[in-house]
Amino acid sequence: MSTCYLNGKFIPLDSARVSVLDRGFIFGDGIYEVLPVYAGRPFRLEAHLCRLEQSLVAISIVDPYGRLAWIDLIYELIAANCPAETLSIYLQVTRGVAPRNHAAPLTSIPTVFMMVSELTTGLVPAQVAAIVLEDLRWQRCDIKAISLLPNVMARTAASLAGVYEAILVRDGWVTEGAASNVFIVSRGRIKTPPKSSFILSGITRDTIVEALADTTDAVQEVEISQTELLASEEVWLTSSTRDIVSVTRLDSRPVGTGEIGVVYRRVCAAYARFKVAELANTKTPLYSSS
Ligand code: PDD
Repeated sequence: MSTCYLNGKFIPLDSARVSVLDRGFIFGDGIYEVLPVYAGRPFRLEAHLCRLEQSLVAISIVDPYGRLAWIDLIYELIAANCPAETLSIYLQVTRGVAPRNHAAPLTSIPTVFMMVSELTTGLVPAQVAAIVLEDLRWQRCDIKAISLLPNVMARTAASLAGVYEAILVRDGWVTEGAASNVFIVSRGRIKTPPKSSFILSGITRDTIVEALADTTDAVQEVEISQTELLASEEVWLTSSTRDIVSVTRLDSRPVGTGEIGVVYRRVCAAYARFKVAELANTKTPLYSSS
């Protein structure tokens, strides 16, 4: 059984309990992060913590710990589990326990929970099918909120359709996947929707943009219409838990040739090199296993 972190204690996951009055349970009033850990080293930890801080500020929860304390806790959680393994960490902060009332209480103490899971990311190319659905979400998709009902509905629809992901479209423009960001290759150019309050600023997305910035594959951060998406040569999905995945069928039709694309293979290789180099430079605290 894995060890999780709940409100100041490292305990077995199956003994972790929170109150039914927790506002995360009652209102979905909280935020979360998911970060990958390779051989005990969190990848882009600062970027994930920065996004965590932005999400907390956006919903007016005072950061319960601060950057350095978060880093210590994350490394302690890794050390308490399988420190040499490749893992993903799920981290959640809710507004805490309070009598049910929509208005946020001024005095509640945030509930902080972290657990580890197996990370399925591989650096080998992977291909999947996807469908296009209307984006039914709110206007603050940049906040990594735990209230994910439209995302759950979209992923469930994808799953029932026998495909991996739903690519969401708002007013004819691509936003992102139900739990991923979207890239396309259109007339040989790599494109991804620009950052806005309609998409989550994905850490994998940002890393790919950075890794390719000074190359001939530099990413254009531009609006992508549904028409352009459906006519593109390649479509990829990115996330911390799956890295870059190639969509070779979209709405039951082949994307481009219907095979994994050459640009995808090239970018995966470049991304893998970038990641390995950055992880090699990641300093781990003394008490971690390395
Ligand atoms: N989700 N957009 C949405 C809506 C997401 O939920 C995610 C990730 C991403 C990609 O972000 P990143 O590259 O930082 O993982 C984009 C995580 C993995 C999840 O909810 O499990």
